[in-house]
Amino acid sequence: MSTATAPTPIPAAQATVAGNPEAGHKLRLLIAYLIAIALIIGLGAYGLDYYVAGPHDRPFMAKHVLLKPSGRIGINLGILGVGMFLVIFLYPLRKRWTWLGRIGLSRNWLDFHVLLGLSAPFVIAMHSSFKFHGFAGIAFWIMLAVALSGVVGRYLYGQIPRRVNAAEFSRKELQDIQDKMAEQLAGQKILKESDVRSALRLPSQQTVDRLPAPVALIHMFVLDLSRPFRIARLRSGALHGAEYLTTLGGLLPTRHRELERAIAVAREEAALSKRILFLSRSQQVFHLWHVVHKPFSYTFAVLVLVHIGVVLMMGFF
Ligand code: HEM
Repeated sequence: MSTATAPTPIPAAQATVAGNPEAGHKLRLLIAYLIAIALIIGLGAYGLDYYVAGPHDRPFMAKHVLLKPSGRIGINLGILGVGMFLVIFLYPLRKRWTWLGRIGLSRNWLDFHVLLGLSAPFVIAMHSSFKFHGFAGIAFWIMLAVALSGVVGRYLYGQIPRRVNAAEFSRKELQDIQDKMAEQLAGQKILKESDVRSALRLPSQQTVDRLPAPVALIHMFVLDLSRPFRIARLRSGALHGAEYLTTLGGLLPTRHRELERAIAVAREEAALSKRILFLSRSQQVFHLWHVVHKPFSYTFAVLVLVHIGVVLMMGFF
C-alpha cells in the first residue's frame, strides 16, 4: 500500500497568484488596505463618543481607562504607530542598505510605504485621543504634512516612467515606445484618424516649458482627469444605436475586441505622450519635492523619539 498522498489541487485564484508575483503583491496590498480600513473605522466607531467628549467629561467615562493615550488600547495604538513608522522608514533605508535593497521590488515597497503613511496619522490621532499639544502635537502635525505631501509625491512618482526595478526610462527609450504605439494606432482601421488626433491633442512643448511648476503640475493632473472622457468620446465615435446608451456614452468598454484593443493603445499612447511632454517638469518638481519631504520626515522622526524618551522617563510603562 502506497503511503504517498495525492497532491492537493490548488484553487484557481491561488494558482493564479502563485504563478504571478504581481498578482500576489496586489492581493497582499488589498488585504492590508482592508485590515487598515477595518481597524480605523472599527476603533473610530467604538471610541466616537469618547473622542468627541470634552476634556473634563472624559475621565468620568467608562472608556477612559482604555482609550486615554496611556490606556490599554491607547498605549497599544502608540506602539502600533511606532511599528508602522519603522516600516515606513525601511523604504528610504533600503536605498542605502544593499542587503535590504535586494529584498522585493522598490515599487512594491513604495505601495506599503504609502499604505502605512496614510494610515499612521489615524492610528496616532486615536493613540493621542485627538489631543495634539506639546512635542507630540508638533510631531503629529509634521507627520500629517509629510503624509499629505506624500500624496503629491506619489502622483509625481507615477509620472516618471520606470522599469520593474524602478530605474527611470530615458527620454529616447520612451520616444521609441511612443513611436511604436503611434505606428500601431495609424495601422488600425476602426477609429477615425481625426477622432484619434482630437483625443490625443496636447499643448506644445514650448507652452509646457514656459508654465510655472505648480501650474504645470495642475495642468498634468487636469489632463489625467479628463482622459477617460476624451477616450469615451473616441469610443463613442465607433458605436452604433443602443451601444451609446449601454456604454454610458462610451465611458464603459464594449464587447468589440478589435475596438477595445485600439482604444487601449490610444489610451496608453495618450498617457505616454503626456508623460514625455511633462517629463522634465515632473523630474524637476519631484526633485524639489524630495528636498521638502525628506527633512520634514527626519524632523518628525526625531520628535517621535523625544516623545518616546519623555514617556519612558515619566515611567508610563
Ligand atoms: C507619514 C509618514 C511618512 C513618512 C515619515 C515618510 C517618509 C519618507 C521618506 C524619509 C522618504 C525618502 C525621501 C528621500 O529619499 O528623498 C519618502 C519617500 C517617499 N514617500 Fe513618504 N513618508 C510618509 C508618508 C507618505 C505617504 C502617505 C505617501 C503617499 C501617499 C508617501 C509617498 C512617498 C513617495 C512617492 C516617496 C518617494 C519615492 C522615491 O523617490 O523613491 N509617503 N517618504
